[in-house]
Amino acid sequence: MTTQVLRFIRRGEIVTLADVPPTRTLLEVLREDLHCTGTKEGCNEGDCGACTVVVGEEVNGQLQTKAVNSCIKMAHSLDGKALWTVEDIAADDGCLHPAQEAMVQCHGSQCGFCTPGFVMSLFGLYQQHAHAGQPITRADAQHALSGNLCRCTGYRPILDAAQTMLGLPAVPVDEAKTLSKLKQLAQIPRGLEADLAYKSPTTLPALLAARAKHPQAQIVAGCTDVGLWVNKMHMDFPQVLDVTQVAELRRVEHYRHHIAVGAAVTLTDAFAALVADRPQLGAFASRFAGLPVRNAGTLGGNVANGSPIGDSMPLLIALGANVVLMALRKGKVTHRELRLEDLYTGYRKNVMAPDEVLAWIKVPKAVPAERSRVYKISKRFEDDISAVCLALNLHIVDGQVVHASVGVGGVAATPVRARKTEAALTGEAWTADTVMTAMATLRGEFSPISDMRASSAYRTEVLGNLLQRYWLESQGLAAVNLESFVLEGEAA
Ligand SMILES: Cc1cc2nc3c(=O)[nH]c(=O)nc-3n(C[C@H](O)[C@H](O)[C@H](O)COP(=O)(O)OP(=O)(O)OC[C@H]3O[C@@H](n4cnc5c(N)ncnc54)[C@H](O)[C@@H]3O)c2cc1C
Ligand code: FES
Ligand code: FES
Repeated sequence: MTTQVLRFIRRGEIVTLADVPPTRTLLEVLREDLHCTGTKEGCNEGDCGACTVVVGEEVNGQLQTKAVNSCIKMAHSLDGKALWTVEDIAADDGCLHPAQEAMVQCHGSQCGFCTPGFVMSLFGLYQQHAHAGQPITRADAQHALSGNLCRCTGYRPILDAAQTMLGLPAVPVDEAKTLSKLKQLAQIPRGLEADLAYKSPTTLPALLAARAKHPQAQIVAGCTDVGLWVNKMHMDFPQVLDVTQVAELRRVEHYRHHIAVGAAVTLTDAFAALVADRPQLGAFASRFAGLPVRNAGTLGGNVANGSPIGDSMPLLIALGANVVLMALRKGKVTHRELRLEDLYTGYRKNVMAPDEVLAWIKVPKAVPAERSRVYKISKRFEDDISAVCLALNLHIVDGQVVHASVGVGGVAATPVRARKTEAALTGEAWTADTVMTAMATLRGEFSPISDMRASSAYRTEVLGNLLQRYWLESQGLAAVNLESFVLEGEAA
């Protein structure tokens, strides 16, 4: 099976590459095929940020740019887009981009291995702030660099560079030219889409038809899980079906009682929609991986992957989310809707038929009586996966729990609903005694495993503690937590 010719914009010109295998990563293409070795390979699994590049596409007539990890991005997912690497951002006369110059001036580099990745995350941040005309705060810088690790310099000079770069002479990206090139690229006719090894349909009917015809093809979205299977488990997929260009699945739709998030909406945009409705989820959203992973990974990918320690599912279960699965059967589009927790049948197993795709995640909107919170316990604050995650959504009316919805991660083979705990809370007075009983129920409801992230006993203990924390917070106790610390440089 062949692949389409891969075409993207770089340095204002169209790059054309033939015969790129379906699971070849963008980093491999850059370093091995194009011999552009400025972009580094560190971990090759999305963790260190050394391979960060910026990808641009046209969204509603504007150029939208995002920093992503090239090591776990399939090269073909770049088709029709624009790319900037660390080798592409200095001016033609060699004048450094402010993101580079600020790193020099602030002494943000020592061995330099991480530096191209930091520079590209800074470039992504620069693009956003140069547009908005707003200064870069310490928190903005920390947020933008949450997916980059440095072993030698220390972060202070790099954060200083982030806050310095807007004040340096600008080296602007020619957005009008990039947009016009992207348009030009979109108009170049494509070959016949018969049995391509990398298929990237742009409409839902086309996706469903492709899935019906190729049920064995590996579905990919942001590839932040699948990329690791390719790089670390050496899995090879002869045929790949990419859902990220399907226009319908890239939308967030707002209805009276719920928000419908298309399966291909990135985690960045999906969490933005959820946080707009429930601002208290903001801190949790920023603890999901780091920014480049959230910029590439999708909510649908997290849900479909169904990892027992995946972060969005406990929250979505507690909020009462449903999923919509779609297929094309006998020429007709079928769909079925089920509660999220009913999607899973076992460790990374779900009810999806070979011809089905996950299309929508429907999340009920916040109601006045609700008190929803989600707690993530992980070894690192950012860019780390949960050992335990507890999400609670209680409706408390006149001191009584009238509705209890509890989602848990890290305690079973799948993300789960804590039904016994819900029963122990529902209809009860919202008192310390009720909470103590529910804590015991919650601790007894699951038998978590011990692994490198946490022991079984720790998981069990901390689960009850998190419910107690929810209770204490509901009583007005201001918790001292990591989010309450003021960042260096932010106080004055
Ligand atoms: C450094 C790093 C940090 C991470 N941190 C976290 C974290 O903090 N919390 C967390 O939960 N996860 C984390 N992850 C895991 C990953 O980012 C998420 O699971 C992400 O949401 C996966 O989405 P994706 O679009 O990249 O999925 P992909 O990798 O493209 O796909 C994942 C699976 O979903 C299937 N799939 C995708 N879309 C569909 C669809 N529409 N229909 C049917 N099947 C589909 C694919 O076939 C595949 O089996 C991290 C990953 C990395 C690399
Ligand atoms: S090489 Fe480490 S994130 Fe890509
Ligand atoms: S400068 Fe050496 S790893 Fe960052």
